[in-house]
Amino acid sequence: MRSRPEFFAAREELLGPTALVPTMGALHAGHVALIDAAVRTNESTVVSIFVNPLQFGPSEDFARYPRTLDADLEACRAGGANLVWAPQVEDVYPGGPMRTIVDPGPLGVELEGASRPGHFAGVLTVVAKLFGVVRPATAYFGEKDYQQLVLIRQMATDLDLHVGVVGVPTVREPDGLALSSRNAYLSPTERTQATALSRALMAGQRAAVFGPEAVRTAAAVLLAAEPEVHLDYLELRGEDLGPLPRDGAARLLVAARIGTTRLIDNVPVVFGAKP
Ligand code: PAJ
Repeated sequence: MRSRPEFFAAREELLGPTALVPTMGALHAGHVALIDAAVRTNESTVVSIFVNPLQFGPSEDFARYPRTLDADLEACRAGGANLVWAPQVEDVYPGGPMRTIVDPGPLGVELEGASRPGHFAGVLTVVAKLFGVVRPATAYFGEKDYQQLVLIRQMATDLDLHVGVVGVPTVREPDGLALSSRNAYLSPTERTQATALSRALMAGQRAAVFGPEAVRTAAAVLLAAEPEVHLDYLELRGEDLGPLPRDGAARLLVAARIGTTRLIDNVPVVFGAKP
């Protein structure tokens, strides 16, 4: 299903409530977990597959982003999705360049936004359009991209979009590496080095009983031990990515470059309790 008219005709046939799982394709078990969660609790599930040019910077990997449509369609079918929309750029942006862009506000220029200018405006704009085209009751997003999840929640609330935003925990490889389409860029050596991210986060998580400084230090020590992992940020924040609360739930987030590949990961941290 590519064009809007084709999609709208098929959308009419779906029984509600309808869930949306937005993706950029190259589907892996992380995406499948979102589809599973959506299928389990909704009458109908729509998956969108669209590599959105608006959220890639000029020097980013839009052109070389993996595109595996046939395998993706099979994964959607196997996962029980009712409808897949895999539009072309012209189907999503029929009027050419966008005039109206969603501004993510202050959080949009922090963390990922600091090194990817315009990224979250591109994400929020396409997600708002997908909500408009698909008109889902709920939409499913991974905690893997935690800042994205928080910003989409913020948009749905601030703009009264009437879409329930559901977060799904990160799916990991057995050695802890968070599944990501970009892991395909890693050489075998880099793939081994990449485990430093999740090892650091989990060490931080385990240190939570000793307080925030212990969490930061435990994670930083592990990252420093892997010189090929070039740290962009390691931050401990509140669950909503605001300042760290005095107690309760927090989030530990990391971004690093290994070779030419930029990886991100995050975990929940609960102070005063073992996770
Ligand atoms: P994409 O990177 O394809 O991810 C689609 C969804 O899958 C996102 O919600 C992401 O958080 C989730 N996901 C990715 N890896 C995961 C993992 N290991 N475990 C759990 N969920 C995981 O994120 C995007 O696409 C785009 O920005 C999009 C929202 C589609 C807008 O273009």
